[in-house]
Amino acid sequence: MSKSNFDSSELNYLNTLAAGLVHEIKNPLNAISINLQLLNEDVQDLDLEEDTKISSRIQLLQKEVRRLDNILSDFLRFAKRPILHFEECDINGVIESVLDFIGPEAMQNSIRILKSFDTKLPKCKLDSNVIKQALLNIILNAQQAMPSGGELIVRTYQNGDNVLIDITDTGVGIQKNKIDKIFQVYYSTKKTGSGLGLPTVKRIIEENKGTIDIRSEDGKGSSFLIKLPVNSKSKEK
Ligand SMILES: Nc1ncnc2c1ncn2[C@@H]1O[C@H](COP(=O)(O)OP(=O)(O)OP(=O)(O)O)[C@@H](O)[C@H]1O
Ligand SMILES: [Mg+2]
Repeated sequence: MSKSNFDSSELNYLNTLAAGLVHEIKNPLNAISINLQLLNEDVQDLDLEEDTKISSRIQLLQKEVRRLDNILSDFLRFAKRPILHFEECDINGVIESVLDFIGPEAMQNSIRILKSFDTKLPKCKLDSNVIKQALLNIILNAQQAMPSGGELIVRTYQNGDNVLIDITDTGVGIQKNKIDKIFQVYYSTKKTGSGLGLPTVKRIIEENKGTIDIRSEDGKGSSFLIKLPVNSKSKEK
């Protein structure tokens, strides 16, 4: 459950406001970036003695501008809430298409994909595009948690009125005291991670009337368990 103190219309308003602010910052940032590039070219044309020093300062600034721009782009992607289109979906097929997409890269990284699908799974009313995005985020995390290879085990089964998807990896795992943090916005232990992957996953699953839980053992691996209602009467907005 979200711990936010805002109701959804207030949140929508804040989101719109923040997205507007981000756009306003992105434009001058873009101008700064172009001017830094021109400045760098001018310095090189001048043929000064100190030009490498000046050039490396400019490059440092360019790097920071790019970093800021990436932060803003990630935020915009996170804040953007697509209108959902719910339809009857075959979950196994949805997972299969994500695994097809990730397959070649997994193979390159010595990751073995093991599938155990319940073929009698009932259909669920979902937005398959956003669910694919959520599954991809989880699977990419799993892949990144297994830098020297391992196993990705994907299982589907039914339990009462729910369809369950279990995505398990044999990767680095998560320390007990960090588990509560992984769904927090901007929490990342990766050099270039935005920390928006799992918050996006959680939001998508909840918008599809599901839940997500994690079990993890430091050094052994992690399991993400997604529970989705069979034929949920999801609210279309
Ligand atoms: N399967 C996993 N195994 C181990 N740690 C994980 C796993 N999935 C997530 N984590 C931890 O949770 C953190 C947050 O994950 P999240 O997907 O939100 O962000 P990220 O992967 O760091 O960045 P991004 O998704 O933007 O690339 C990760 O940095 C990592 O420490
Ligand atoms: Mg991630």
